[in-house]
Amino acid sequence: MAVLDQLTSQQAIDLENKYGAHNYHPLPVVLSKGEGVYVWDVEGKKYYDFLSAYSAVNQGHCHPKIVEAMTKQAQTLTLTSRAFYNDMLGTFEKKVTSVFGFDKFLPMNTGAEAVETALKVCRKWAYEVKGIPENEAQIIVCENNFHGRTTTIISFSNDPVARTNFGPYTNGFIKIEYNNLEALEATLSSTKNIAGFLVEPIQGEAGVYVPSENYLAKAKELCEKHNVLFIADEVQTGVARTGKMLAVDHENVKPDILVLGKALSGGAYPVSGILANNPIMGVIRPGNHGSTYGGNPVAAAVGIAALEVVEEENLAENAEILGQFFREKLNEFIPTCNIVNAVRGKGLLNAILINDTEDSSTAWDICMAMKENGLLAKPTHGNIIRFAPPLVITKEQLLDCISIITNTVKQFEK
Ligand SMILES: Cc1ncc(COP(=O)(O)O)c(C=O)c1O
Repeated sequence: MAVLDQLTSQQAIDLENKYGAHNYHPLPVVLSKGEGVYVWDVEGKKYYDFLSAYSAVNQGHCHPKIVEAMTKQAQTLTLTSRAFYNDMLGTFEKKVTSVFGFDKFLPMNTGAEAVETALKVCRKWAYEVKGIPENEAQIIVCENNFHGRTTTIISFSNDPVARTNFGPYTNGFIKIEYNNLEALEATLSSTKNIAGFLVEPIQGEAGVYVPSENYLAKAKELCEKHNVLFIADEVQTGVARTGKMLAVDHENVKPDILVLGKALSGGAYPVSGILANNPIMGVIRPGNHGSTYGGNPVAAAVGIAALEVVEEENLAENAEILGQFFREKLNEFIPTCNIVNAVRGKGLLNAILINDTEDSSTAWDICMAMKENGLLAKPTHGNIIRFAPPLVITKEQLLDCISIITNTVKQFEK
């Protein structure tokens, strides 16, 4: 078979199963095209995408402005490494720092790399600015966190699937309960040498856990009091997903280090990075950190276009308005059916809780049925299904999706 022959779904799945590592458990759908809120499988069936590649495709699939910026740049200059300057990176840095209000940006590629970058910068700041003795810095993290898959990051995960048999683990992390200010205060007061507090403003992978109102603002205050860096991982929640540019904006919190990824490129290209002000980012000097591809001209062109799309198309506002509408409609539906316990979320990052045991297959079965009915979503953990469509979705499309979701769920009533 020639490489470019069109495969059937089954052929594509068989190839992946045979030649690819089995590190994911995908829904059995093989996609070959995307546009806006829609994706198509290789047999031509059209679906609403209600995952958006884990909130990377906020601007919609193949957004013409982002694709144009990418293809134009790809025909001009793709990679120089940071051994030389390129004529796009500075403009991207200016854009991203002005949109999010920080002095400096450090570009990387993936979310996990950006989190690693934040941890390194936090530790270096702790030794060189705060004055913590060498190798003694501790970073507070939260239970049920998800920050990526590198060795250091899984060292402070409590998900056995992510952790087991990948030791020895990296030291220097203290885990506390999420959404528990007393635990944070107690740890900050009783433990020496705390450098930072790393937190997801909403725990996405854990099942779209929205913390209590003011949790982030109070946590930031506590960090300030103890001279500890507040590090917000907005890889999933950032770039308009929750109805504001950042999820921390809902509480007017300004992180000391902001971690971004995913939608920073609108799903076109891996672009991530961290933002911080000069007293913190200033600890990084030549040779301390980097990545061959980080800040490459294509990434920069894509990043600029992706941020412009978010602004020009008012995606944060759309997410806020349609997110409220979505939860309202589902809250009207929930009392009429015994299979969904609750809906929760912010903006267009939402989840429903299925009324079944954590280890039941009901959530998966519902996702399979929604796929048949033309909408793609996936369980996060156990019996929780996340709904995160591209933020370019219209009210009419969302109404259509709500009826697909509620009609499908109804079929599972006990
Ligand atoms: C909050 C958060 N941080 C970090 C990551 C890791 O990003 P990546 O998969 O690009 O490494 C994710 C991915 O889902 C995430 O949700």
